[in-house]
Amino acid sequence: MNSFDFCSSTELVFGRGAENSIGERLAARFPKGRVYLVYGGGSVKRTGLYDRVTGSLREAGLEVREKGGVRPNPDIGLIRELSSDARNWGADVLLAVGGGSVIDTCKAAAMAVPYGGDPWDFFSGKAKCVRALPIAVILTIPAAGSEQSMRVVVSNGDKKWGTASQLIRPMVSVIDPELFFTLPPYQAAAGVVDMMSHIMERYFTNTPATGFVDGQAEAAMRSIMKFGLEIRRDPRNYDAWSQVGVAGAFAHNGYYGLGQEEDWASHGMEHELSAWNPKITHGAGLAVVIPGFLAFTGARRPERVAQWARNVMGSVEQDDSAAVRDGIARLRAFYREMGMPGSLEELGAGSAPLEELARRAARSGTLGHFVPLSPEDVLSIYRSVLKA
Ligand code: NZQ
Ligand code: ZN
Repeated sequence: MNSFDFCSSTELVFGRGAENSIGERLAARFPKGRVYLVYGGGSVKRTGLYDRVTGSLREAGLEVREKGGVRPNPDIGLIRELSSDARNWGADVLLAVGGGSVIDTCKAAAMAVPYGGDPWDFFSGKAKCVRALPIAVILTIPAAGSEQSMRVVVSNGDKKWGTASQLIRPMVSVIDPELFFTLPPYQAAAGVVDMMSHIMERYFTNTPATGFVDGQAEAAMRSIMKFGLEIRRDPRNYDAWSQVGVAGAFAHNGYYGLGQEEDWASHGMEHELSAWNPKITHGAGLAVVIPGFLAFTGARRPERVAQWARNVMGSVEQDDSAAVRDGIARLRAFYREMGMPGSLEELGAGSAPLEELARRAARSGTLGHFVPLSPEDVLSIYRSVLKA
């Protein structure tokens, strides 16, 4: 195990109706303060959540300003508008009501407001975050884990890049499983794939002596599949959503990567797809590339992938290569049962410029760490999942 420094500072508030206390909670920190509310394409209005949240904020004596219209795979354009408006207005806190796209929009703006320059500077490497506005979250989809993570990912034209800072971990995140009942099944399934992948990206490592975290990670992945299928069958199952909601928040707070080198090649490959076409849902893109990634890396590091196949996917194959194949087949069957696409064609990316995307994914020379992938390796993974 490697040396590490771990701090996950987000206060999590969990339970039925927990969002109704958001006004009180923010007023305790910022009496008579200015809350900048940010949301997506309209689901919060349709579900009535918007009215309850703004009511709670106003009742607590807070001033409210708002920006809606954040799209999935959030765009830097709206972040620029939000940053300058929040700065001019003198916002004390940004309140994200939504999923990863809304939260990441707030994270980028939170860095840019005190900085005063272009938010993209943090993604291009021109600026480093040294101060950020506080962020509060009311989570409406368990998926990206941004409600507790230190990461942020945004799109700028054909680039979808990320950065990280301890300063943008949300101050408080509210998780009410009842808010997930209205999710379209495809989004719910993509969220389940995404949270499981956040553990896989850390699990596939060459760092020795990670047995404690391995065991936790294997149990977490099994639970995510079990409860993922339950919410697929019964989208109003509060108890199953509770497990999925908690799993998503912890999958990406860094715990499952304690003291080990992380991989992130599958995310690198997916981000090029959803940068190329922002209509592609992140988790659905992952469901396509991950089996290709596992087949490629499993041929080169069979032991670790076979361990995952046996301990997570339930393979009983003795031979490592057979276990790898069996584990991947079981994972594909799980994705299929969740209603996820099984190929780039089914994802709507059959005509994507794969050579170009592979070059971009491995732009720093290689992609990932478990098996460092050259642009040619990435291309061969993309091609291996082109058709079902
Ligand atoms: O925009 P609205 O109308 O709200 O609809 C959204 C959106 O269309 C809908 N939705 C959300 N909650 C709903 C709901 N519809 C009905 N009822 C509800 N309760 O779901 C759609 C997807 O929302 P989005 O926020 O895009 O989903 P997700 O949480 O999956 O976020 C994806 C983004 O997060 C990034 C992804 O790359 C992508 O840009 N990620 C961020 C990470 C981070 N910051 O740590 C890590 C992840 O690996 C990921 O890369
Ligand atoms: Zn992800």
